[in-house]
Amino acid sequence: MATILLLSGPNLNLLGEREPEVYGTATLADLVEVATRTAVARGHDLEHLQSNHEGSLIDAIHAARGRCAAIIVNPGAFTHYAHAIGDALAAYDGVKIELHLSNPHAREPWRHRSVVSSTVTGVIAGFGAGGYRLAVEAVADRLAE
Ligand code: DQA
Repeated sequence: MATILLLSGPNLNLLGEREPEVYGTATLADLVEVATRTAVARGHDLEHLQSNHEGSLIDAIHAARGRCAAIIVNPGAFTHYAHAIGDALAAYDGVKIELHLSNPHAREPWRHRSVVSSTVTGVIAGFGAGGYRLAVEAVADRLAE
């Protein structure tokens, strides 16, 4: 049994109310429940942290070193400019998934660049709430290899 850390970046605490036409109507609690259920069904544990602060997310990535087997992170807008989050992920050795509800490449040009993608195992984007299940399944598959 492994521990998977799910990290949610800025503004994701507003899911359900925030631009539902872009992000859907599921709340963050709904998404965490889907991810937790999927992890448990695959024999793993899931921890979740949401923060609107870059440093708190970096601290959580550091604290996962040697403790969590995988990190699934939706960095929100930090995806596009927070190099320190990319550096923290680069220093983390486990499985890493960058996750987005929307497909940033189909949106405004400033969302097309990710400073996180080059540090992760893979990226899941554009599948809405379903992406949370896909991300946990992808982690579990990788851990089983
Ligand atoms: C997001 C995409 C980002 O561009 C945006 O800033 C978010 C959410 C997503 O899940 O689609 O806050 O990461």
